[in-house]
Amino acid sequence: MSTSPFSNRFNRRDFLVGSARVAGAALVTGAAGQAFGAVRERLRIGMIGTGMRGQVHLRELLRRDDVDVVALCDVEPIMLDKALEKVAKAGKPVPRTYGADRDPDGWRAMLAAGGLDGVIIATPWEWHAPMAIEAMRAGVAVGCEVVAGITLQDHWDVLNTQLSTGTPYMLLENVCYRRDVLAVLRMVRAGVFGELAHLQGGYQHDLRGVKLNGGDPAHPYGGGVEFGPKGWSEARWRTEHSVRRDGDLYPSHGIGPCAMATNINRGNRFTRINSFSTAARGLHDYIVKQAPDHPNAKATFKLGDIVTTTLACANGETILLQHDTSLPRPYSLGFRVQGTKGLWMDVNHSIYVEGVSKPEQWDDFKQWQDKYDHPLWRRFGEDAAGAGHGGMDFFVMHAFLEALKNGEPMPIDIYDAVTWSAITPLSEQSVAQGFQTLDFPDFTNGACARASRGSRSTTATRRLPLFLPVRLPNC
Ligand SMILES: NC(=O)c1ccc[n+]([C@@H]2O[C@H](COP(=O)([O-])OP(=O)(O)OC[C@H]3O[C@@H](n4cnc5c(N)ncnc54)[C@H](O)[C@@H]3O)[C@@H](O)[C@H]2O)c1
Repeated sequence: MSTSPFSNRFNRRDFLVGSARVAGAALVTGAAGQAFGAVRERLRIGMIGTGMRGQVHLRELLRRDDVDVVALCDVEPIMLDKALEKVAKAGKPVPRTYGADRDPDGWRAMLAAGGLDGVIIATPWEWHAPMAIEAMRAGVAVGCEVVAGITLQDHWDVLNTQLSTGTPYMLLENVCYRRDVLAVLRMVRAGVFGELAHLQGGYQHDLRGVKLNGGDPAHPYGGGVEFGPKGWSEARWRTEHSVRRDGDLYPSHGIGPCAMATNINRGNRFTRINSFSTAARGLHDYIVKQAPDHPNAKATFKLGDIVTTTLACANGETILLQHDTSLPRPYSLGFRVQGTKGLWMDVNHSIYVEGVSKPEQWDDFKQWQDKYDHPLWRRFGEDAAGAGHGGMDFFVMHAFLEALKNGEPMPIDIYDAVTWSAITPLSEQSVAQGFQTLDFPDFTNGACARASRGSRSTTATRRLPLFLPVRLPNC
């Protein structure tokens, strides 16, 4: 008898509401000789990166009885051992392991060994593109943590590899599955906000204690000012990006929900982008306050404390993103969705809808949340309880696995991945060129621009599936 709450009773229409298979999607053969596009009951999954994030994903994989975790790779033996402990605790068979000898190329051997239907990539950012590309070439479906790549060329390479191999690729952007975000998406589709005009989002998270720690595996957050080889977890690699780069380094949590609401790559596209960056003070001040004599007190950081990015969309909307990770503040993704009839803001859980709300008065979002609660959350809310980030980590993994099992298009697909993630190199370029406004590349090669012509209306929006929409026929 099934022990998993997820297998069998899942109805894929709950997830791909109103969607259709990708037009003309040929059956592509995966590494195991099985065709992508065919339905399968079980999946053999490997993981590259079993650090803090990888372990969250592993927990979700181990809860299911339709997944066999058959291979794990990490170059840090402590992280690998923690993952193996989780597998043992779940009473599942011991997976093959790679990288325990700290070989940074162990993942290549894992892919070459075969026997994988899919791989979860949860490594430092610089590894995402090469790992995803090689996995797709090996015919292993990719669930990749944010971001898709570092340079703009990385993004084209990931896209072109997906298109030439046909191997499924999903960006594991979990915030698209947040309960209020999904309710608001339904409200957008229902026309509650009228025609959309402006959206906001971002990554506003005080990461000083993540980027700097004491290098102690037992205390990955805070407790010191180390980074680089002496740091632990993200302090080991992420902080270096703050040393060398200036731009919106982490756009997808903010842009994912905004792009879904505005139908980006589904009849709409980004046309222009610019970024402004403040001075970099936060990380330096944090180090000096804690350990003025530490050598890192002399470190310089290039990443502006707050990077503000503006995007223009072909259908007339603007989107504002803020990357704010080095100053003291409570966590908030700062969402705002505003149209001709009203707006929602997540910071104070408030909404105003003309003709419904009292003039000049915010309403509590709770009643709207209940009314427009997404069927996914109604159905799987209990299963998601206890999963990371308030449950949304359950949904993003569930979405990847179910799409793969059912041979359906990935709900957050390759075009979403590269479009959202390419904001980073473009934002860096804008800052480096004195905050210049740049053209946004069209990764769909004109298909979405044609589809968007004349579609600036809520009727076009209403026609689209609630979530998770697949590409329009010509997009
Ligand atoms: N979506 C989210 O909410 C969310 C949250 C946290 C992290 N993340 C993303 O997940 C990824 C991992 O972050 P993390 O917090 O787990 O960092 P982490 O440092 O804890 O884990 C990364 C792991 O990758 C391993 N690694 C590095 N190079 C490797 C290689 N060549 N081969 C195999 N393993 C290698 C490291 O040893 C480490 O254990 C990042 O891309 C991060 O941005 C996403």
